[in-house]
Amino acid sequence: MEVVVLPTPEDCGRVVADVVTAAVEGAPGEVIIGLATGSSPLLAYRELVARHAAGLRFDAVTAVLLDEYVGLPAGHPESYREVIRRELTDALGMDPARVHGPDGSAADPLQAAGDYEALVTGLRPVAVQVLGIGANGHVGFNEPGSSLASRTRVKTLTEQTRRDNARFFGGDVDAVPRHVLTQGLGTISAAEHLVLVATGEAKAAAVAGAAEGPVTTSCPGSVLQLHPHVTLVVDEAAAGRLQRADYARYVLTHKLVGQGW
Ligand code: F6R
Repeated sequence: MEVVVLPTPEDCGRVVADVVTAAVEGAPGEVIIGLATGSSPLLAYRELVARHAAGLRFDAVTAVLLDEYVGLPAGHPESYREVIRRELTDALGMDPARVHGPDGSAADPLQAAGDYEALVTGLRPVAVQVLGIGANGHVGFNEPGSSLASRTRVKTLTEQTRRDNARFFGGDVDAVPRHVLTQGLGTISAAEHLVLVATGEAKAAAVAGAAEGPVTTSCPGSVLQLHPHVTLVVDEAAAGRLQRADYARYVLTHKLVGQGW
């Protein structure tokens, strides 16, 4: 795992955008990228939109979302499919038919989970999977206790996650759905390159647990330690509890030319 500690959230956004750009530009044909929603990747997404305006093309890109709320009607402004359309994929000129997410409005969410797992598995490989992390260490919506080998399924959000996400629902915790569909940690780990971005002090404990703690279902983000290609991009505040932050800074200032991420 490469830990990249940078001064500001904007710097983090640029590095995440660099990783996605390299995948998009480097592929000879079709490329699949995995997208997270939430606040953490937004600066990266803005950077990608700016690069698209400057000529970066996404015509051959297919996107797969990590997760979705259960029970929000299709088109609800806070459904993750709608958020990603609004924040990113429309601005990148992507055909909506190339943007896939779990169907949280399906009459049978269990069936929808299985269908989405089959779709993501059939589309593989995901070249780059963008991730955020919850304050409790969740990745996707794999809350603590999730199997590190899990596949796409229905999960029940913790009350902490519902409180954290109430800001997207006008501060009303009761409006945050209790259930979600999420790619499992095993599904996510099949991507070729995982790039996780976290900023702010509230993420510092989760970042330290994911990067330096024991590999445990109690911190789902610790599954990253089992993956061969992870870039963990954090600002100084989110790096605040990392014991090896100095080494990470040292590595960054001594990268070989062309070493990449
Ligand atoms: C969202 C997702 C979640 C978020 C996490 C952090 O698709 O997968 O794991 O990345 O809840 O959310 P923010 O970035 O809003 O702090």
